[in-house]
Order: sequence, then structure tokens, then C-alpha cells
Amino acid sequence: MERNDFIKSLGLGIALVCTGSCLSGCGSKGSDPQPNNPGGNGPAPGTTANVDLSTQLLTVGASLTVNGILFIRIAAGNAVGSFAVTQAVCPHQGGALSWIQANNYIQCGLHASRYTSAGAILAQPNDGGTTSALKVYTPTISGNTLSVNV
Ligand code: FES
Repeated sequence: MERNDFIKSLGLGIALVCTGSCLSGCGSKGSDPQPNNPGGNGPAPGTTANVDLSTQLLTVGASLTVNGILFIRIAAGNAVGSFAVTQAVCPHQGGALSWIQANNYIQCGLHASRYTSAGAILAQPNDGGTTSALKVYTPTISGNTLSVNV
């Protein structure tokens, strides 16, 4: 083998090794965020969720998810206006939504989109996608039971 042929074949080998390692590095990793409920459109019609106000949501800023519905206490007292109620699953790709009392917004755990307690969008997902406003629900109160029937 001529020296030039050897160098050319060596260069091709290195290129193949580099390409292979680069492609394997581009594959999905276990730590990549994955949608946990793609297409989160909120709970199905007919879904009911109840909260016992004698033991739950006792302080302003407390929140609770029941049957895919996020309940947030936004004011003292047990009036309908004391609570914000939204879907608990992100419309973008189904991440779990949480109330962040310190910042006064709802945030998605998957791509960090943010919403007001009234469901309006404050920040789009951090993956370049777009989300939509949250569905909100008007609860009823009977005795110590706060309820939503979708
Ligand atoms: S799933 Fe919520 S921002 Fe992507």
C-alpha cells in the first residue's frame, strides 16, 4: 500500500468513528423531558373532583390536584371566589401543572410554561413550542365540600 493510500484509508476510518459517536450522542436520553400525558386537554367531560375544606386548602396559596383538576386557594373564606380552579395537565404536551405561590403563577413541570390562576398564558414552553390558555372551572360549595363537575 502506498503511503498516500494508507493516509486516505486512515482518514476514512477516523471519519466513520467520529460520525458513529456523534450520531449515538444525538439519540434520546433517559433524562430528556418526555410528555407524561400528550395533548393535555383537561379532564374528560363528566369528571368530578371534591375537596374537603375542613382539612384541605386551609391557607391562602395552598393547592391540590384531584382527578386532573388543580384547586388553588386565592383568598380566605369558603366562598366560590376564594378559589381558582383549572385543568392540572398542561395543554402543550401534558406536563403536570403546579401552583407556585411565591411567584403567584401556575407552572408546567415539563417545559416551564406559566399561567395566571385564571388560566391566561404568562410564558410559552421553553422548548420553542406553543401552549394555549388553561381551561378554568367554576366550583360549587356545599357545606365543607368544594366541588367541580366538568
Ligand atoms: S408540557 Fe407544559 S410546557 Fe410543555
